Amino acid sequence: MFSFQTPTISEIAPDLFRFCMYAPEIDLQFNYFLVRDEQPLLFTTGYRSGFPMLRKAVAQVIDPAKIRWVGFSHFESDECGALNLWLEDAPQAQPVCGLVSAMININDFAIRPPKAMQDGELLSTGKYRFRYCSTAQFPHGWDAGLLFEETEQTLFCSDLFHQGGNVESLTEDDLSERVRVSMQQMQNGPLANYIPYTPQTDGILKNLADLKPKTLAIMHGSSFAGDGEQALGNLSTSIREILGETG
Ligand SMILES: [Fe+2]
Ligand SMILES: [Fe+2]
Repeated sequence: MFSFQTPTISEIAPDLFRFCMYAPEIDLQFNYFLVRDEQPLLFTTGYRSGFPMLRKAVAQVIDPAKIRWVGFSHFESDECGALNLWLEDAPQAQPVCGLVSAMININDFAIRPPKAMQDGELLSTGKYRFRYCSTAQFPHGWDAGLLFEETEQTLFCSDLFHQGGNVESLTEDDLSERVRVSMQQMQNGPLANYIPYTPQTDGILKNLADLKPKTLAIMHGSSFAGDGEQALGNLSTSIREILGETG
């Protein structure tokens, strides 16, 4: 497994904390997000191997035993590998995922039953309200989905907008060029076909853009503050141009 640097913590929007774990050997950040609320929600759990470090970092913001919801996009180790470790730590915590995810993985995998959400369904955590967006096969996995927090208009993007390097926690600059460079590099290397381009891809990105997010909470690379609708439109163009032609 990769070794990670000690997490850095930043509050990138009100009550939205970003925990950055950089893996120097692959020059890539793994960013995990916590929304502090009456019912705190962690979006993506990180690897099992990274759990002790990440837990320690989360404990600087809230008591990890108080976490109520643990969300993720799709079944993959960086997304939900440490799910059961968080659930063991927090007795009230439940996974939150899509219906497909619950049915094919989480009902069996998790030590506690998930809250299985339909596309468009809302979850209130107190001050904040999360909409589940089903995005099957995007960024990858039949079970894929994303959460959109409606009060602060934050889209939890998982692998979308992937950028390499140990970059700043939040930027207002246009991410398009960085994202294109990373996508092209991956497409030319052993990790090609990271994101499949399918007949649904453009429509999914259009639906996400219509949410008009103000903050994009991004797993690999800088998060973004600004016109999320425009950023998702640009991403759609890049994906079609780079992944569409080789797909
Ligand atoms: Fe992924
Ligand atoms: Fe990822």
